[in-house]
Amino acid sequence: MTMSRAPVPRAVLVTGASRGIGRAVAHAFAQQGDRVAVHVRSAVDEGRETLASLPGTGHVLVVADLGEAEQAAGLPAAAEEALGEPVRVLVNNAGIATGADLAHPPATTDTLTWQRHWETYLRVNTLGTALVTHAMTRRLVELGLPGRVISIGTRGVHKGEPEFPAYAASKAALHAMDASLAVALAPHDIAVATVAPGFIETERVADRLNSPAGDEIRAGSPFGRVGRPEEVASAVLWLASPEAVWASGATLDLNGASHLRP
Ligand SMILES: NC(=O)c1ccc[n+]([C@@H]2O[C@H](COP(=O)([O-])OP(=O)(O)OC[C@H]3O[C@@H](n4cnc5c(N)ncnc54)[C@H](OP(=O)(O)O)[C@@H]3O)[C@@H](O)[C@H]2O)c1
Repeated sequence: MTMSRAPVPRAVLVTGASRGIGRAVAHAFAQQGDRVAVHVRSAVDEGRETLASLPGTGHVLVVADLGEAEQAAGLPAAAEEALGEPVRVLVNNAGIATGADLAHPPATTDTLTWQRHWETYLRVNTLGTALVTHAMTRRLVELGLPGRVISIGTRGVHKGEPEFPAYAASKAALHAMDASLAVALAPHDIAVATVAPGFIETERVADRLNSPAGDEIRAGSPFGRVGRPEEVASAVLWLASPEAVWASGATLDLNGASHLRP
């Protein structure tokens, strides 16, 4: 007879968990009994709110600017120190998303602005995330421990982001990095996957959803609405589960059928 055993709690690092998708992901892991390192860049008060809202015990707050290489590379060690054990699951959620002040449509953007936005997006979203991921996975390889990495990419990689080409490219690099790491790290029992959300209702985009543009955004999906942070969180939770190891290397579209690809 097989006895069902309660899952062993894991140490999970969720980057960018001050609000939005990151906060929902932190909540989902804590809800199933894992211990979460809640990461923020500067929104320490909001990070503390996330921390206080998590069910269970043993969660911690860690602060790092992923635009600073040393801080990004040092984040998994800081989380390990605070949690008292190595990070076994990394959720790469932190990033600079789209926002009016960062728009850079190619036809009307001057060279310097174009360069500045490319540097910003690539430095934080791509290089910062790559440094965190490298440090976390190297540590697991060194210790001979299995692990999971799940990155939050975007539908924009496949659909295009005409106002934010550098944002889409910075996330496309993550999709590609995850595919390569899935192959490279499978022999070490580390599975790597990506989710590609469409429009998700977070604090950051509340004003746009409440503006006249909101109806058009909702109409992008045949469900007539945008996604919810909890819907991204449940997919991430599944990708981090023992049942999902065979999804390593996959990119999971989470866009309410708003953009289908073969
Ligand atoms: N919402 C959507 O529609 C949507 C769709 C597709 C993909 N995504 C992706 O999903 C992720 C979360 O989206 P969201 O809407 O929840 O974003 P959000 O509300 O803007 O939250 C972004 C998080 O990233 C952190 N962050 C930003 N810059 C950072 C830096 N330089 N170093 C470290 N942390 C940094 C922020 O920390 P602080 O608060 O401390 O600054 C915050 O916790 C992003 O990667 C985004 O690109 C979102």
